[in-house]
Amino acid sequence: MRALVVGAGAEGRFAEVPEPVPGPGQALVEVHHVSVNFSELRHMGRLPQGMVLGYDAAGIVIRAAEDGTGPAEGARVAAFGPGAWAERVAFGTDAMAVVPDRVELVEAAALPMAGLTALRSLRAAGPTPGSRVLVTGASGSVGRLAVQLARREGAHVIASVSSPGRAERLAAALATDRAVEVVVGLDRVEPVDVVIEVVGGPALVTAWGLLKPGGNLQSIGWAAGQPAVFPPNSTFALGEARSLSSFGDMAAPATDLAHLLTLLATAELSIELGWHASWDRLEEARAAQLDAATTGKITMQIAT
Ligand SMILES: NC(=O)c1ccc[n+]([C@@H]2O[C@H](COP(=O)([O-])OP(=O)(O)OC[C@H]3O[C@@H](n4cnc5c(N)ncnc54)[C@H](OP(=O)(O)O)[C@@H]3O)[C@@H](O)[C@H]2O)c1
Repeated sequence: MRALVVGAGAEGRFAEVPEPVPGPGQALVEVHHVSVNFSELRHMGRLPQGMVLGYDAAGIVIRAAEDGTGPAEGARVAAFGPGAWAERVAFGTDAMAVVPDRVELVEAAALPMAGLTALRSLRAAGPTPGSRVLVTGASGSVGRLAVQLARREGAHVIASVSSPGRAERLAAALATDRAVEVVVGLDRVEPVDVVIEVVGGPALVTAWGLLKPGGNLQSIGWAAGQPAVFPPNSTFALGEARSLSSFGDMAAPATDLAHLLTLLATAELSIELGWHASWDRLEEARAAQLDAATTGKITMQIAT
């Protein structure tokens, strides 16, 4: 079968790979759509040559798990796991969830990595109703979902974006109310209890400085690709400790994925879909991702 793998020159290329053989607790999925996450096409040089790319997929179960776990044959599912950009993939049943009728498979494919990251990092930070939550990179995939999920928790959300144009777009898309403030940059932000931080570099340093005593910053990503230089003594303060946590907990996401899909089905959560075409147009997908003007989640249809 065909899959997209890391090529010799750190480019994505098609390869014939062996048919997957599901192990215990795995179901075989015929993949219809996949989504592109931040680092998958940007940083292929860091990955081993020949590795099948991708993490997010949605499709149809064509062989249910032999141990009786997970969705039945014929179920429409979203799934998370390495090597997702292939015609067929054996995913763990603890990493897939049935897609509700009202959700298109392409939308479901856009959800796993970004949605699980937003949901779980917020849960780890534990915002309470009325607490102030700052989300950086708020018009990006993780940020946009984190803004919506934090608002659902009753937090006051400060959604930081890079330009007035992005601010206008985000405010219109999320029908923002008094619970969500969209701001450009971080200059005028008052102290916060929680930070969901995806930009890294100077944004990470500034956001750290905005944390109240006892606050928590979830360091999720480094989208800006710049180093973070903390001024001397900036990690020292009297009073309750502030904490910075790394984030990478994507284990056994089935229940959380099902929850996020339900929120999509009930329109309590929305995803902005961006560039979409056949995976045969991988180079265009990559160009779209590297174009700073691109907005929305990039997805590819798998031609079987
Ligand atoms: N720890 C984990 O498990 C985990 C999981 C998912 C993602 N991540 C990481 O989180 C980060 C964001 O992922 P994402 O999927 O949300 O990406 P995305 O959709 O591309 O969004 C990235 C956001 O970062 C902002 N940004 C600021 N400077 C940028 C620059 N120089 N280049 C590109 N974007 C820049 C953009 O803001 P504007 O739109 O306002 O310009 C954009 O909203 C990435 O570093 C990714 O690797 C980590």
